[in-house]
Amino acid sequence: MYNCSMFKFLSINSNYGNLTPIEEVFDVPFDIKRIYYITNVPHGVSRGFHAHRRLHQVLICINGSVKIKLKNPKEESEVILNDSSDGLYIGPYVWREMYDFSEGAILLVLASDYYNENDYIRNIDFYMNEAATRY
Ligand code: TYD
Repeated sequence: MYNCSMFKFLSINSNYGNLTPIEEVFDVPFDIKRIYYITNVPHGVSRGFHAHRRLHQVLICINGSVKIKLKNPKEESEVILNDSSDGLYIGPYVWREMYDFSEGAILLVLASDYYNENDYIRNIDFYMNEAATRY
């Protein structure tokens, strides 16, 4: 889907457990200015419901699983994140909804910029309108 892709990160597995290193520029296509993580999402709760104008992000489910619905004015797709070495890259002007968080799911997000509410489009009608010329 346009402006979205799956990354596979290196996983260094041994008898001592698994280690996944992620380096900006080499492993994700932007400089990482912010990270945040989402935990303790109650059963049945969905999050997201927005797009960003400029932000680039990579979503990694480092424990458990979560489903992500992606939309633009022309396409829609669904991704399941259930492996801590998988990353979902989401670029600008992609609508996302996160749902079906499993018990204990931890969603780690790497972001290309600091938090800025002005970068969000939180209304789907405004999003479809603003994104229409880009697709
Ligand atoms: P939001 O991005 O809407 O979360 P989600 O898409 O997962 O539902 O953010 C939820 C709240 O947290 C909102 O009030 C903004 C705030 N927030 C920050 O203050 N800093 C951040 O880096 C992020 C991502 C959110």
